[in-house]
Amino acid sequence: MLFNPKKIVLKDGRVALLRNPNPDADAAALIDHLKQIVSETDFLLRYPEECDWTEEQERNILSESNADDMRLMLVCEVDGEIAGMCGMSLYPQIKFRHRASLDIGLQKQFWGLGIGTAMLEALIEAASERGVMQLELEYIDGNARGRALYEKMGFAEVARHPDAVRFKDGSMRSLVFMMKKL
Ligand SMILES: CC(C)(COP(=O)(O)OP(=O)(O)OC[C@H]1O[C@@H](n2cnc3c(N)ncnc32)[C@H](O)[C@@H]1OP(=O)(O)O)[C@@H](O)C(=O)NCCC(=O)NCCS
Repeated sequence: MLFNPKKIVLKDGRVALLRNPNPDADAAALIDHLKQIVSETDFLLRYPEECDWTEEQERNILSESNADDMRLMLVCEVDGEIAGMCGMSLYPQIKFRHRASLDIGLQKQFWGLGIGTAMLEALIEAASERGVMQLELEYIDGNARGRALYEKMGFAEVARHPDAVRFKDGSMRSLVFMMKKL
C-alpha cells in the first residue's frame, strides 16, 4: 500500500519523515534495524538470531508490501537514519474484512519522542480510508510504554492469552489483545 510521505515534528524539535520503505535503499538498514530493536527490548516477538533473512529477501518483502493493497509498511526516518517501522495488515477473507492488525517497533534512542503516536495516527487514518471497522494489536504483558501509547490512541484491552510467550530463561508471559473501533 502506498503512503504519501509525511513530515512530523518530534518532541526534541527535529523533523522526521514517515514514508514507505524504499526496497533498494533501505533493505540492508532495515535488517540491521530489526536486529537492533529486538536486542533492545524483550517486548518484541523475535530474538536477534531469528532475524536472519538476506538483503535480497528483505528487498522482496518491501517491494511486495508496497505493491500489496492489504498491507501498509512505514518507516520513520530521522536525520537520514531509520528510527522505527510499523505495519498494518488487512485480512482478505470476507468474514474478516472489517479487521486489521498493527505492529510497531522503534530503536530505543528514539523512544518517547512522539514517533509512536505519529505512526499510529497514520495507520488509523489509512485504515479508516479503507473502510476498516476495527484495529487490533497484541503486546507482551508488562510493556507499559506500549500499553500507554495504545490507550492514548483509543485502544482497549479485549483478551489475554496466558503463557503465550516463553522466554529463553523459561519464564512465561501473557499476550494482551487490544482493539480500537473506528
Ligand atoms: C512502544 C513504542 C512503540 C512507543 O513509541 P514512542 O514513540 O516511544 O511513543 P510516544 O513517544 O508517541 O509516546 C506515547 C505515550 O507513551 C506514554 N509514555 C511515554 N513514556 C513512557 C514511559 N516511560 N512509560 C510509560 N508510558 C510512557 C505517554 O503517555 C506518551 O504519550 P504523551 O506523549 O502524550 O505523553 C516504542 O517505545 C517502542 O518501539 N518500544 C519497543 C518495541 C515495542 O515495545 N513495540 C510494541 C510491541 S507490541
